[in-house]
Amino acid sequence: MMQKEQPRLTRRDFLRVATLGTGAVAAGGLGVLAAGAAPGGAGKPGGGAARNPLFVPPTITPIDYPLTAAPATVDLGGGQTSNQLAYNGLFPGPTLQASSGDQVSVDFSNRLTEETTVHWHGMVVPHEVDGHPLDAVAPGGTFSYQYQIRQRAALNWYHPHPHMLTASQVANGLAGAFILRDSVEAGLGLPSGAYEVPLIIRDADFDRQGNLIYKPRSSGYLGKEPLVNGTRRPKLDVDQGLYRFRVLDGANGRVFRLALSTGANFWIVGNDGGLLETPVQMTEAYISMGERLDLVVDFSGQGANSIFLRDLESGWDLLEFVSTNQPGHTRSVPTQLSAIPPLTAPVRTREFSFDGMSRINGQQYDLNRIDWQVPFGEVEKWVFRTNGNAPHPVHIHGMPFQVQGRTGGRGVVYPYERGWKDTVLLADGETVEVLVRFDAYKGLYLMHCHKLEHEDMGMMANFEVV
Ligand code: C2O
Ligand code: CU
Ligand code: CU
Repeated sequence: MMQKEQPRLTRRDFLRVATLGTGAVAAGGLGVLAAGAAPGGAGKPGGGAARNPLFVPPTITPIDYPLTAAPATVDLGGGQTSNQLAYNGLFPGPTLQASSGDQVSVDFSNRLTEETTVHWHGMVVPHEVDGHPLDAVAPGGTFSYQYQIRQRAALNWYHPHPHMLTASQVANGLAGAFILRDSVEAGLGLPSGAYEVPLIIRDADFDRQGNLIYKPRSSGYLGKEPLVNGTRRPKLDVDQGLYRFRVLDGANGRVFRLALSTGANFWIVGNDGGLLETPVQMTEAYISMGERLDLVVDFSGQGANSIFLRDLESGWDLLEFVSTNQPGHTRSVPTQLSAIPPLTAPVRTREFSFDGMSRINGQQYDLNRIDWQVPFGEVEKWVFRTNGNAPHPVHIHGMPFQVQGRTGGRGVVYPYERGWKDTVLLADGETVEVLVRFDAYKGLYLMHCHKLEHEDMGMMANFEVV
């Protein structure tokens, strides 16, 4: 039978797996975030085997669009097939694309053997269509997600959000990109068409037949091998010019620190909530689970050499850029990108402690409990702290926020964390302050750790905008 049974993991199961996994954790000692798994394997710098062309999912306008979650057989590159889960048979799912003002309608069918939802990560939408776990679609069931795009250009994404089943469904293949466009972005002349490529980066494990498998660990799942757009050992042919990479960390539990193998600068022009005010030049950047980075990389001086997109935490070479030696996009990066009106003068402060692997302010998630109420339209300061077991990427549904400060740990707000964010990384010892104003919709919202194992174990809370 093709169907992969996904038994519901209880919190006790997670704890048991965690105990078994402790030996492996100690072996790490890598970057500042100490990701855990040792570097090496397929993506090792200089590794030998042939690389596969990067899969780029087709781009679709989601108007009356049928989307199905189901078991599927997908090609992970070079004819290596995997029996797993997929949206519309694709891994990642189709790249959805819409513009500000558009009316989206996605007719979803659940052909899994368990409940699921489709959550629109980063989207400003009413809670009825946000894929909240209370709105589960039963196996065999359908739901029509309909909403209007009321926000600026950005890279968002869609993934399941069922109660205590999110981690396994995402790890088993359910995720896709959702690109939003607007006139500000269109006027900038950033690389487009073949020169704009979404990169969904994650890690994975495989059984002996090459099928994607999920090995849950309460401390956060870490796979042994990187995947970019579902491709094992990917490569991309690049012309000599600028490329725009729309990067999403779609992993359950792995933080990446991206760099080019040459150590060269790249531009960061945007993040979760769209374009920054001005581009920033970096030689490396963190991206944690659920976060997005909008990178512009210049291959004009590459010559015939290959360059790699590298993860400095694991040492993996994630993607090989193979030079075509053809001329490419040569227009320069604009110096001014967008206007970001700053949030100021918060009327109150709320404090949130991310405790252990399953609690916020001492409490585990309860589907039916609402933990706090936020008045509509008021600026608030939210302070996120951890007492360990980080990294905890803190994610708020339905409304982007602005990061004000980080103390402890890395101790800085990186320039690419300015602008609008919906997920911010809390590493061990860190306190992060954000300003947020819920001025789009009243109703039920979620805040949670985007390490999906922590989310499923209860590091999540309902709140209400009133
Ligand atoms: Cu990307 Cu509540 O999730
Ligand atoms: Cu979300
Ligand atoms: Cu966490």
